[in-house]
Amino acid sequence: MSKVISIINLKGGVGKTTITVGLAEFLVVEKRAKVLVIDLDPQTNSTVSLIGEDEWATRNRNDQTLYQLFKDQIDDTSKFILEDSVVTHCSNLYGGLENLHLLPSSLDFVQIQDRLVNIAHTALIHPVDVLKRSVAHYISNYDYVLIDCPPNLGIVTQNGLNISDFYLIPTIPDHLSTYGIPQIITSVNSFNRKTSSHVQALGIIASMYRSNVTRHQTTIKKLQSKADAEELPRLFETKIPLASKAADATLYEAEGINTLKQKYGSAGSSLYDAFLQLTEEFIYYVGL
Ligand SMILES: Nc1ncnc2c1ncn2[C@@H]1O[C@H](COP(=O)(O)OP(=O)(O)OP(=O)(O)O)[C@@H](O)[C@H]1O
Ligand SMILES: [Mg+2]
Repeated sequence: MSKVISIINLKGGVGKTTITVGLAEFLVVEKRAKVLVIDLDPQTNSTVSLIGEDEWATRNRNDQTLYQLFKDQIDDTSKFILEDSVVTHCSNLYGGLENLHLLPSSLDFVQIQDRLVNIAHTALIHPVDVLKRSVAHYISNYDYVLIDCPPNLGIVTQNGLNISDFYLIPTIPDHLSTYGIPQIITSVNSFNRKTSSHVQALGIIASMYRSNVTRHQTTIKKLQSKADAEELPRLFETKIPLASKAADATLYEAEGINTLKQKYGSAGSSLYDAFLQLTEEFIYYVGL
């Protein structure tokens, strides 16, 4: 059965996209899974990481992005066609991964974000149901659907939650980055109540972790003790280390990248091992 996971945080720059893309690539390559990434973020970071800027520009011109899906609701048009918009053979690994697919986002999304709340007045659909109505039937084609969300819990993110079984919270393990986590949980609980959904917290994952930074170690301990006391969701045992290869991994046009090991470092390197451990831990909690 397919599992749908939203990767969310109120805070920007905490590793949501890097984790979404890395996890997707490891699930496909190492676990032979079939994965769909849905990029709901107007910043289009996972889109350009997985298909590059040129392919994105072509698809954007042809109305084949999620921006068009939402714009259709505002304008009462139907230009977006799901089957034409899903990109197959994504990633720069192995010349494109047959089983890694993407529903791309668009920078143009920014222009309509504020108008999305008005959808209810212009169409016979609730603003949080737009994505669900379009893709719900299609999700069963995949083992996993990973949704890269913008750094807020607005209407667009709620569209992602509305088709999700779980949500995963990446965070840098420091005070300011973890400060808003209880608010995320309260907001998702309230979303669940309002929409009669059952999106469950999959856990919190530390990213850009530095083992030699006391602040990071202290925060990890705090998160762990709150998880033990069930005040917060589980803390993943895996920590994604701060590593320049992680930042390079989002560059689709990178020279000399073909294998997972070239992209994330050889087996035994901390980044490669962390992503492999994350993939295994993720499957263990979510189910295969
Ligand atoms: N483990 C890591 N090591 C080093 N750099 C990283 C790591 N993870 C992410 N980065 C870098 O940190 C920045 C933020 O990461 P990323 O884009 O994944 O965060 P995000 O939460 O998706 O941000 P946004 O909220 O803007 O969408 C990027 O420049 C990325 O390349
Ligand atoms: Mg992002």
